[in-house]
Formats: sequence, C-alpha cells, structure tokens
Amino acid sequence: MSLARDSAAIFEKTAGPALLFLKRWMANPLVMGSITPSSASLARVIARNVRREEDEAVVEFGGGTGSVTRALLESGVPASRLFSVEIDPELAAYLRREVPGVTVLEGDARRIREMLPNPFVGKVGTVIVGIPMVLLPSEAQQSIVDEIFSIMPKGRRFLALTYAIGAPLKYEALGLNAKRVGFTPANIPPASVWAFWKR
Ligand SMILES: C[S@@+](CC[C@H](N)C(=O)[O-])C[C@H]1O[C@@H](n2cnc3c(N)ncnc32)[C@H](O)[C@@H]1O
Repeated sequence: MSLARDSAAIFEKTAGPALLFLKRWMANPLVMGSITPSSASLARVIARNVRREEDEAVVEFGGGTGSVTRALLESGVPASRLFSVEIDPELAAYLRREVPGVTVLEGDARRIREMLPNPFVGKVGTVIVGIPMVLLPSEAQQSIVDEIFSIMPKGRRFLALTYAIGAPLKYEALGLNAKRVGFTPANIPPASVWAFWKR
C-alpha cells in the first residue's frame, strides 16, 4: 500500500509538471510557446544572469510549472521578493501550491505595472521574460518592453530565453541593445538566454 502511494508521489513529482505543461500546451499552444518546461540546466543559466540589489525584487513573466522560479530560489532570490506572473489559471494555482512564499500574480504580464505591489514598482532588479514574445506583433512587444522598463530602475536589463539561433526580439527596432549571455544544449530544444537594455 505505502509502496504504491510512495511510487505515485514520486511519479507525480517528476512527471507531474511535464504532463501538466503538455496538457496546457494542447489547450493553448501559442500562449505556452513550448511543449516542455525549461530544463534545470536552462533555469540555472537564467538564474546566474539575474542582477539584483538586496532590497530589489525579481519578476518572472510566464511562471509555467516553476522550473525557473525554483532555480531563482535556489540561487538565493528570497521568496518574499520573487513575483511570478502567469496568465493560465491552472498553472497559476499549481505555482501557488508548489512554490509557497513566492507571489504568483495571475494575469497578463502586459499589465505588470498595475499588478505589481506598489512598493516594488521601480525596485525590480531583473525581469525574466518566459512568455513567447517572438509570436507577438511588434506593437505588443513594444508595449511589454515599455511596461518592463517602467518597473525597473534606470540602466537595468531584462532577460529572455529563446530556442532560436538569433535574438528573440527585433531589438534595434525596439530601441534596445542586446547580448546573448548564455546557452545550454541540455534543454528540449537547446536554448539561449539574451539580455536586453535601453540604448
Ligand atoms: C514557454 S512557457 C515558460 C514556462 C516556464 N517559465 C519555463 O521556463 O518552464 C511560457 C509561459 O508563459 C505563460 N504566458 C504566456 N503569455 C503570457 C502573458 N501574456 N502573461 C503571463 N503569462 C503568460 C504561459 O501560460 C506559459 O506558462
């Protein structure tokens, strides 16, 4: 009995997030943008590139099943200063259960300035964009970029992950500089992390 229960718990812990991710992808492929969650390796590359002063927060767009969220916690970002924005109600509920202490903001990341608690507006060290920006029209990309810079102090950068060879944004048209800051082959598919900042 208890062996069966233990096995079910182990299966739930390992395969659960991937199955939930796949289910939400089947329901809404364009919003999910990927069939599998980021690997631990990709999540660590992202976490390594996060910059934050001690009193600053980190905001993640598109929490999914929490792979990046967990890596951020492991890298030392305090849960009390970590905000994960997720548009899918089932994933938002999952994140609240699985990463307690982290503030899950259920809704559209395009409204981050309105959703983020006031004391943190202007106090965000890094924004991590996990939503499929590449699929959005350029006006939508521009409004997201404007929202991002409205919650960070001047001179900061945001990070975005991509499976493409080049940058995930037409950064010059958006008035940005860009640099590829990391890559991992240990992800399905292999992925890069880019940093973007205002020109
Ligand atoms: C490619 S998945 C990334 C999930 C997770 N960060 C990871 O790396 O495994 C994209 C996530 O962004 C969410 N998403 C897409 N558009 C969004 C939006 N406008 N606002 C908030 N979340 C969004 C999707 O529901 C999905 O969970």
